[in-house]
Amino acid sequence: MTTIEAFEPATTSARRKASNTAGRTTIERGGYLALRSPDPAAAAAFAVEHMGLCLVHVDRAGRHYLAANGLDPYSLVYVEGERGIDHVSYVVRDEAARNAAEARLRAADVPVERLDPNPLWRAKAALRVVSPAGHAVHLTPGVHVDVPMAALTRPSADAPAPISFDHVAPRIADVDAEMSWLEDVLGLRESARVVAPDVGPVIAFFRAHTLFHCYTVVRGPANGLHHYQFSLKNAPAVLAAHKRMREGGTVEVVWGPLRHGPGHNVAFYFRDHDGNFVEYSAEEEIILDDENYVAAVWSAEDAKFADEWGTAPPAVFFE
Ligand SMILES: [Fe+2]
Repeated sequence: MTTIEAFEPATTSARRKASNTAGRTTIERGGYLALRSPDPAAAAAFAVEHMGLCLVHVDRAGRHYLAANGLDPYSLVYVEGERGIDHVSYVVRDEAARNAAEARLRAADVPVERLDPNPLWRAKAALRVVSPAGHAVHLTPGVHVDVPMAALTRPSADAPAPISFDHVAPRIADVDAEMSWLEDVLGLRESARVVAPDVGPVIAFFRAHTLFHCYTVVRGPANGLHHYQFSLKNAPAVLAAHKRMREGGTVEVVWGPLRHGPGHNVAFYFRDHDGNFVEYSAEEEIILDDENYVAAVWSAEDAKFADEWGTAPPAVFFE
């Protein structure tokens, strides 16, 4: 039997040296997530009614733009189409940072598309790259913040009051290829992984800046979406959102409240209008000593990786 030690990550510096890297990214944090939906209007109405988001625009292509309670103009976009990820957008500081990223990627022969003009409402010209699993990633100049958005914002809305999009967690069939791409092309760094004996990494968490993760790889039989996440102000805000959804009776709450091992965030999960899993969480770990941080390795057999408080994820999480 192969133990989990065989799947431990190399140190960050060793991986950087070993990789044919396109250079450290200028990504700062998650910006927004665009999801394809068979009925964007209905999905957006549900998000307004039950998820604490605000519909701020519908463009000529029928994209519905939803804002949270932070400083970003929008955090979630529903685009008409078969259910799934359309693209995930990460914030870079400004046009100069985007241009520097474009130069590095092109010099490394990474296929990159320049979206100029950007078809997304109020979005500056972005870079578009596609992961080995087929997930499109945009690097878009956006709102720069020096601290996590939740620390800057005090929502005036009642629960649920999401503040900002933080991470997406796609299902990935070839996790090794996706993990290498996240490091070598996007320049993300691994914060932790969950390893199953004889299988290897089943979940891996990657960060851009200080927040623990902005892209989570979830091993699955096929590529797709496992869940997406919004950050709330603090743990009481998470518990209040959970209580409101449970009492409302319309939203299908699937797991939580809980506290994750990796990332240490207090969270719960529910389904959006289209049945996607959504995570609302707070108190996500931040990593300040980047040079000396060593990515943590959790065993999938250690139940506390899922919830330090002792609950287990529902069976539907693994379907
Ligand atoms: Fe998550």
